[in-house]
Amino acid sequence: MKVTVLKTAEEIGVAVAKIFTDEVKANPDCILGLATGASPIPTYNSIIKTHKEEGISFKGVKTYNLDEYCDLPKADKNSYYTFMHEQLFNSLDILEENVHFLDGNATDTDAECRRYDNEINEAGGIDIQLLGIGNNAHIGFNEPADSFTDGSFKVKLTDSTIEANKIYFDENPMPHYALTMGVNQIMSAKKIVLIATGPKKAEAVRNMIKGEVTPQVPASILQNHNDVEIFLDEAAASLL
Ligand code: PGA
Repeated sequence: MKVTVLKTAEEIGVAVAKIFTDEVKANPDCILGLATGASPIPTYNSIIKTHKEEGISFKGVKTYNLDEYCDLPKADKNSYYTFMHEQLFNSLDILEENVHFLDGNATDTDAECRRYDNEINEAGGIDIQLLGIGNNAHIGFNEPADSFTDGSFKVKLTDSTIEANKIYFDENPMPHYALTMGVNQIMSAKKIVLIATGPKKAEAVRNMIKGEVTPQVPASILQNHNDVEIFLDEAAASLL
């Protein structure tokens, strides 16, 4: 694991965005795995800035998002589909048919998960996967569990995750289920970049980097990947 500690979330955003835009420059048909939440927002802002200033085209790029809530309309302001369009896709020249999400409203969620996994495999697998980390060390919505998960699946969110994310749901109750890529699937990305900022992430970050590899700390599996870059601010790195 390569760990980089920077002063601000904005500096992290610039550094991580460069990894992604360098990949798009070198491989205009690359496959990117993307994440939602507060952590990637500065990265997305910086990718948009580079796209505008340097004219890098995203027309050949395909994206696959990590997860999506169940039972929330796609057009809801809190769906990850909406988040990604508002935070990134609407400001790039990426093609709508090249951006992919799990459908959290599918009636047969098992079939939907197999469809998504097959599509990623047939596209050639993910070149770079962006991750945040939960306060409970989840990656995607892979919550602490008795075993590491494999492909995409439907998950019941833990109280810790509901507590962390319910701030975004002012009027409507937050969904308690989501579809998420599985841990082994995340691990099959050729490169993984994880961002963590703020003091609430410090314990999860320490357990991810210094603790034993255990499904109770889902992010600890990243110790077994040969190309992981972790970007932290000083608060998130404070227990290392
Ligand atoms: P955050 O979420 O970026 O909003 O902190 C990260 C996560 O839960 O994976």
